[in-house]
Amino acid sequence: MTTPAASSPTPLAPDAARALGERAQALLDELALVSDEPGRVARTYLSPAHARSIDLVGAWMRGIGLTTRVDAVATLRGRREADAAPERAKTLLVGSHIDTVLDAGKLDGCLGVIAGILAVAEIEKRGVKLPFAVEILAFGDEEGVRFPTALSSSSAATGTYRREWLAVRDRDGRSLAEALADFGCDTDAIESARIDPAGVVGFLELHIEQGPLLEHWDLPLGVVTSIAGQSRFSFTLDGVAGHAGTVPMDLRRDALTGLAEIALTVERVGRQGTNGLVATVGRVDVKPGAGNTVPGRVEATLDIRAGADAPRLVAIDRIRHEAERIAGRRGLRFELTRHIDVPTCPMNEDLQAAFARAVGSLGLDVRRLPSGAGHDAMAMARAFPSAMLFVRSRDGISHNPREWSSPEDIGLGVEALTRTILDLAARATRGAA
Ligand code: GLV
Ligand code: MN
Ligand code: MN
Repeated sequence: MTTPAASSPTPLAPDAARALGERAQALLDELALVSDEPGRVARTYLSPAHARSIDLVGAWMRGIGLTTRVDAVATLRGRREADAAPERAKTLLVGSHIDTVLDAGKLDGCLGVIAGILAVAEIEKRGVKLPFAVEILAFGDEEGVRFPTALSSSSAATGTYRREWLAVRDRDGRSLAEALADFGCDTDAIESARIDPAGVVGFLELHIEQGPLLEHWDLPLGVVTSIAGQSRFSFTLDGVAGHAGTVPMDLRRDALTGLAEIALTVERVGRQGTNGLVATVGRVDVKPGAGNTVPGRVEATLDIRAGADAPRLVAIDRIRHEAERIAGRRGLRFELTRHIDVPTCPMNEDLQAAFARAVGSLGLDVRRLPSGAGHDAMAMARAFPSAMLFVRSRDGISHNPREWSSPEDIGLGVEALTRTILDLAARATRGAA
């Protein structure tokens, strides 16, 4: 749906948009150098690079006058107090995540944090007084790459952290509880990361689209209507390891060929689904992993999403049923463990409207679109009014080092976020008057 731009828009001059975007890009480039692996961006939850990124982004926050702290689940929080009656003021939450996938781009998550910092800096520069505090949140566990958790840090902010997550282990056998303790976090104090909803105006997340729609529509920005529900699993297949030269083909119980058949089934079920159903086997560990040994065990992941809950739940049942049948026929043992189950999440209508006003004020058509990717906003929406604004992604590419958005689009995104905060401030002031 397209709605016309506001009647008297005040567009940002292209040069100003580009300059603002280039400032964001310079910070994004610097943050992308903070990696656990040389030559590519890889910054997983509670890793050494995560710690260094907190130092770097924290210094940027303090540089614009925010007070910073790291909470019990390693979320970096930078706070600007309200200008009037700060002791009674509510807080507007703004942010996204600073963890990344492996061999990531520079924008996913980080843009939302840096845009928050630049927006607050713009507000300071313009000398506008705010009736609420602004807290910029840089979450550490959105991607769920190191541990089979995702959104655990934003879940802690909403008081929906599940303590059983503390027992999950990374590939090196380190538990989440141990990793948090190593990082200096107190696992007995996770409840202290909860933010009281009574004191919150809402949560705003600026993010790259990670898909092709805005490019197709030739628009730099889009307001998110809802976020696809997602379920994530790990599964194992156990067969019998054996000598690749001696075990005849018809006597093998090869876990990897069983996995291959299951992966094709996952693809077929994904293709047959409705409401944008997608299903992915994204990681496979083959054991023992020697060229001359029939694979005895595989450990793999399964990620299923859709724009509505029913098709996702039906697909999970079908995949489970078919995988059990395939494993049974091949003499393998199949075990499926569910780690994440987040329902489809509509974004708050009032905050969507605030983003839409800001986009319209820039003289841009306001277009709305759903998100296929998961975001911290879907956890935050459990407790706070939450909304997202997307910035156009080149070629729709993400989770890939080629991820890119133009400086002009990024600048427009930062300006739209700034105007949204100012719009909410003006309304809050009018409401209080
Ligand atoms: C986060 O990027 C996700 O949707 O997996
Ligand atoms: Mn993201
Ligand atoms: Mn991501």
